Amino acid sequence: MANPDREGELARLVRSHERWRAKSVFNLLPSENALSPTARKYLGSDLAGRYTLPHAAPEGEPGSTNDYGGTRFTDAIERVGNEAAARLFHGRYATTRPLSGHLAAMSALVPLLPRGAKILAIPPQRGGYDGYAPGYLPAMFGWVVRPLPAEGPGGSVDAVAAIEEIRKERPSAVLLGQSLFLFPYPLREIAEEAHARGSLVLYDASHVLGLIAGGQFQDPLREGADVLFGSTHKSFPGPQGGLLVTDREDLFRQIDPALTWRVFDNAHWNRIAALAQTLLELERFGPAYARTVVENAQALGGALEERGLRMVAAGSGFTRSHQVHVERAALAHDRQLLPSTLARRWERSRLITDLIGRLGTAEVARLGLTPSDMPKLAELLVRAGLRNERVASEVLRWRRTYRTLAFT
Ligand SMILES: Cc1ncc(COP(=O)(O)O)c(C=O)c1O
Repeated sequence: MANPDREGELARLVRSHERWRAKSVFNLLPSENALSPTARKYLGSDLAGRYTLPHAAPEGEPGSTNDYGGTRFTDAIERVGNEAAARLFHGRYATTRPLSGHLAAMSALVPLLPRGAKILAIPPQRGGYDGYAPGYLPAMFGWVVRPLPAEGPGGSVDAVAAIEEIRKERPSAVLLGQSLFLFPYPLREIAEEAHARGSLVLYDASHVLGLIAGGQFQDPLREGADVLFGSTHKSFPGPQGGLLVTDREDLFRQIDPALTWRVFDNAHWNRIAALAQTLLELERFGPAYARTVVENAQALGGALEERGLRMVAAGSGFTRSHQVHVERAALAHDRQLLPSTLARRWERSRLITDLIGRLGTAEVARLGLTPSDMPKLAELLVRAGLRNERVASEVLRWRRTYRTLAFT
């Protein structure tokens, strides 16, 4: 087929995606969010094709220099973002360069942990991140990973059990953070024990970064984490990418110079401008946004449970994050009804989730939904999921009443 046909097909696919995912569904994926119009504009700006590589000037020359010309605005844009990240997450040193949450994790772990280092991390079966399972990052970099105990509803971490494990295993680092992430950690207690034994405390905030920015969930660096890093597009409503913040100069001096040529070469400056914009917007709107997201999640959990879906952590208020989880057997009397079946039925009704039973409330909060809307949303989810009704046209009518984003 001739190339212009392919281009036409591509244009139609992109337009169709935009109409579908950005305008015609309620997105309940906890890993996603909606970008502010200004951040979107910066993503499509000239910065998208530029390089910059600032570094200290050669011996004998004053100040700093750059291997590329034409970078006077790029470098200033990076400073705006780094300074905003440092303010929001309460550390003195920040970088917005990591291209993703996974690469932000590598940016911290690779320079800080030598081959053979032992890490305590929450296993994927308890909601931990797959990337920290033995076959992935630990296999690539020669680390030994041991399970940090996470139990009870939603894989929460108990201080006594965590401290016992730190005493027993004497790890080089305690690596916190989960993909299924409902409750904050007893971080002060964990950090006190870890630091007394010379272990680092590393906090993967990928899922809860937007909540932390808004003063919800917990304040990792002030509660004892040595380094915080994560994705900037899950509860944090920025472009896909990552960031890293620490209050420890000694650690940043190891991490920062190791970014370029180890984890990546050029960073993506359009993304960094969009991220800087989101950080600045969250300085203004973060507290109201994060409060609404968490209240929505708690209200949604309650409204679904009342309507017959079995929800994780029902006895503990469901969640303190942007996620709630459907139990693996979603109905007590129908053990065949799995979250994956629900997700397929929901998608037919324009309600987008993942196949592992997580429902996230960050993007709907950006659209303007509040806790008082959660019973209506739960009713639609139950009709589509449990009763297998097609509610797509009702969802579409409701979705079309939200035309702009809140908290931007
Ligand atoms: C806890 C955790 N860390 C890291 C990542 C990787 O993030 P990214 O997709 O931004 O690389 C994920 C992805 O879902 C995650 O859940």
